[in-house]
Amino acid sequence: MLANGVFAVVEGTNMPTRIEALKRFQVVHILFGPGQAANAGGVAVSGLEMRQNAARTTWKEDELQRRLRASLRGIHDRCVQYGRVARSKLMDQVRGANAGFVKVAEARIAQGVVGEGAFPADAATRQTARRRKGAAEGRPMIVTVANHKGGVGKTALAAHLVFRAAESGRVLAVDLDAQGNLSSTLAPRAEMLGRPSAEALFSGERRPEPTPSGLANIDLLPAASALNQTDRANLSAGLQARRFLGELGERYDVVVIDCAPALGLRLTAALAASTRLVVPLVPEAYAVDGVASLLGEATAIQEHLNPRLAPADFVLNMVIRQARSHQRTAEKLAGMVNLRRPYLHRRIAVTDALAERRPVWRSGRSAEAAHEWRELCDALLADFYRQR
Ligand SMILES: Nc1ncnc2c1ncn2[C@@H]1O[C@H](COP(=O)(O)OP(=O)(O)O)[C@@H](O)[C@H]1O
Ligand SMILES: [Mg+2]
Repeated sequence: MLANGVFAVVEGTNMPTRIEALKRFQVVHILFGPGQAANAGGVAVSGLEMRQNAARTTWKEDELQRRLRASLRGIHDRCVQYGRVARSKLMDQVRGANAGFVKVAEARIAQGVVGEGAFPADAATRQTARRRKGAAEGRPMIVTVANHKGGVGKTALAAHLVFRAAESGRVLAVDLDAQGNLSSTLAPRAEMLGRPSAEALFSGERRPEPTPSGLANIDLLPAASALNQTDRANLSAGLQARRFLGELGERYDVVVIDCAPALGLRLTAALAASTRLVVPLVPEAYAVDGVASLLGEATAIQEHLNPRLAPADFVLNMVIRQARSHQRTAEKLAGMVNLRRPYLHRRIAVTDALAERRPVWRSGRSAEAAHEWRELCDALLADFYRQR
């Protein structure tokens, strides 16, 4: 587009233009819009719908249109107001839309529709500022993979992050789910018998020593059935686990923690020690419903215990390409949370590869699966390293 002299780009959906492209547009003053404001219509319609429901009333079509027009005009005016570039006639609509969106976001948080932290634009800005203040090279990089639901791909994603990171550095995998799926993916069960488990992070008198998994560059603190009781332990046990995890983190390039599908002391300790939180979601209509409490927990921990915890990254897993409802859900989620690309499709190759204790890109079963899983892991890891 640049080479062919395009002078204006108008998007019909929420930010398909990536930030790198956007920067290049800005350099040569290509007119660009509406950016994030493309989402405004959908959000406004939802708002109007909620107001009618709350008042148990139904507006006539022309009344609805009038209100919608008024809100969109308001949004546009706010974009102009906040997006004006100093000492020029230019208006940066992306910046304006972000600022304008804060109001919508705050309203939705106030209504309890989703928890604070679900809005990367707002939370990210605050946290970036905080992070810049305390950022230093080479601090431990600890990643928690969590969701309050089971079967969404936490373990599959944790394992793939471990495999990918181990291709270029030393990795510690910590399995906090008593089911031990991550442990058995990374090491034969028999070899972990009697080895220090992740449970000892909470109850041990000394820091547990991880065991080499047998796979290059991967050490493991395996699960133990006692982890089922850990969520009932005292806060002091959680604080000890946080300290041990932090200390272990200094010996590895990356630590990946796989969580049980529960909110509790294990998750609190993991988040208190972590720099990142990755939340896999499946494209169901109610996929984000319980996520608000998880994000609420993450936000509280970020504020009170661990300012280094970055805003959550979301990963969409088990997408079926042909399912139109999945596409719709994906679009909706992308407007609500920091949904990372690419989306992961449901493919049997994933389960098969994990059963063979290797990543899908080493199984030779599905080139597409290999590509999307590797690309996603790289995108996440690149960000994690950058934060450090
Ligand atoms: N993209 C995918 N396609 C097909 N199967 C998947 C995919 N992601 C995960 N699975 C499989 O689904 C099951 C549940 O995933 P898992 O990672 O164990 O979920 P969780 O840890 O959240 O309970 C496992 O058998 C896993 O191998
Ligand atoms: Mg699991």
